[in-house]
Amino acid sequence: MTPAVSIHSLTKFYRKFKALDQVSFEVEEGDFFGFLGPNGAGKTTTINVVTGLANYKEGDVRIFGYNVRSDYRKTRALIGLVPQEFNFDPFLSAEQILLFEGGYFGYPWREAKKRAQELLESFDLAEKRKEGYKRLSGGMKRRLLIARALMHRPKILILDEPTAGVDLELRHRLWDFLRRLNRDGTTVFLTTHYIEEAEKLCNRIGVIHEGKIIALDPTDVLIRKMARDRVELFLKKPLYELPRELVSLDVALRDSGRKLQFEEKEEVVPRVLKALHEKGYEIEHIDVRRPTLEDAFLKLTKKEVHFDIDT
Ligand SMILES: Nc1ncnc2c1ncn2[C@@H]1O[C@H](COP(=O)(O)OP(=O)(O)OP(=O)(O)O)[C@@H](O)[C@H]1O
Ligand SMILES: [Mg+2]
Repeated sequence: MTPAVSIHSLTKFYRKFKALDQVSFEVEEGDFFGFLGPNGAGKTTTINVVTGLANYKEGDVRIFGYNVRSDYRKTRALIGLVPQEFNFDPFLSAEQILLFEGGYFGYPWREAKKRAQELLESFDLAEKRKEGYKRLSGGMKRRLLIARALMHRPKILILDEPTAGVDLELRHRLWDFLRRLNRDGTTVFLTTHYIEEAEKLCNRIGVIHEGKIIALDPTDVLIRKMARDRVELFLKKPLYELPRELVSLDVALRDSGRKLQFEEKEEVVPRVLKALHEKGYEIEHIDVRRPTLEDAFLKLTKKEVHFDIDT
């Protein structure tokens, strides 16, 4: 099957700055793909290349087999793009924004009108259809951005941080909406800083860091590969010093010696229990926290960040 997105050895410079460095990955048709990475990693740049908004020096970038450069119009018609920043014409109303988009993709007027009405209703914007875009709230603008991307029924929807600054209820509604859209056959490519959102929605994850792909796996595989169960062991009486045999196992003593904290690897649990038993310490209870995508993401992208502020 032809992949929905295929990127091979993509390198992009902004003048002398290498923003993308040999980026290669594929998104299968039907995937709900999560594209994650810290600020400045190269997510929007990748999206801009895929959607033909940015040029690139080296590499091969295809949408459903069509080259984004030589088949620009074809690939652009297959993609619905929800950009990171609002880029509406400030003089148009919500409905006009959708109609113009329909026109851009060659929809006959009556059909565009019908589609726009449908989308305004699904996104709870019907009452605001005559309203100028500037008079919409932030959440309404986000919804309009998504509605606009769907006007021409794209085969793949690319969303660049669609839930930034969106309230909890709307975020949940958007999740449901995207899930349904994906179930009905639209491939989804999502960028987000809410790692929990990616964990809930995406079946596959790619992580980009400083212009390079550093992970590419099904979501559950990535979590298991990168992070382990986190164990917290609460003691009945405090332990003032860690037994010597536990020091090398990365066991930390917390809460004035009442809690031992560690990651489960190479059977640390039985060794900790044995050491405590030998020293006559009793356990009150044990908490085990399953790893999340966030743990995996932090491990992958961890670097010391200091914000130095003179006071
Ligand atoms: N038009 C541009 N000219 C020069 N440098 C750019 C341009 N656009 C982006 N960059 C640089 O390229 C790098 C990647 O930026 P990009 O916008 O792709 O990051 P991002 O992963 O989308 O980050 P964020 O999560 O903050 O949106 C950054 O160092 C950025 O400063
Ligand atoms: Mg971005």
